[in-house]
Amino acid sequence: MTASLAIIGGTGLTELAGLSVCNLHETETPFGKTSSPVLEGEIDGVRLFFLPRHGHPHKVPPHLINYRANIWALKNSGVTDILAVNAVGGITPEMVPGALVLPDQLIDYTYGREHTFFDGSFAPLHHIDFSQPYSAALAERVLSAANAVQERLITGGTYGATQGPRLETAAEISRMERDGCDIVGMTGMPEAALACEMDMRYVSLSLVVNWAAGKTEDELTLEMMQVQLNIGMSRIRAIIARLACD
Ligand code: HPA
Repeated sequence: MTASLAIIGGTGLTELAGLSVCNLHETETPFGKTSSPVLEGEIDGVRLFFLPRHGHPHKVPPHLINYRANIWALKNSGVTDILAVNAVGGITPEMVPGALVLPDQLIDYTYGREHTFFDGSFAPLHHIDFSQPYSAALAERVLSAANAVQERLITGGTYGATQGPRLETAAEISRMERDGCDIVGMTGMPEAALACEMDMRYVSLSLVVNWAAGKTEDELTLEMMQVQLNIGMSRIRAIIARLACD
């Protein structure tokens, strides 16, 4: 089977410029509705799927996203590879606002989210091997697309997934740092695990939009994050356009 790529857009990426849409896929799944219809289209003649995880316009908060419906719908559309875009806070010194990161590990601090397809209603129970939550092969493709458009990516690092929608306390971030987290976001899980359960290749392309709580004297404001989002998302769009054509 040929690879088929989907982009899951995060905060700041509810539309994919340059995507000429040719098909809208189901929103209804056995697990409920997706955040929005899955868009199927083309960038420079190459087929691509796009799903904004917060809906379009952005309205679904991280803890209420129907991650199972979203992943199910992508799988059902024939998607094999997912590039998930995430806005994150930076914890360790290298993770400065504006950095683009391809994490290679994650720690899940979320709770109360529907986090598995194997809940008794679907197929025989399978304990997936999640030792390596992100696909090294797909990460390699993303890295060479970034290199081709002269964008520097930080490869490796641990993504800590928190519940939100509030930001963390400084003590929570200190604990996460002691745990080994480099970046913090609210949407990395259970999305990555569900994609793995569906046997899809999955990577996170994380954009650092602020220093995490306690890592800066400055107040954490949405305006400040928005500035980084605007700059960062146009860089991410260039990487995606290149990735689609590779
Ligand atoms: N914490 C959690 N999620 C985030 C942050 C943060 O500091 N910034 C962007 N998403």
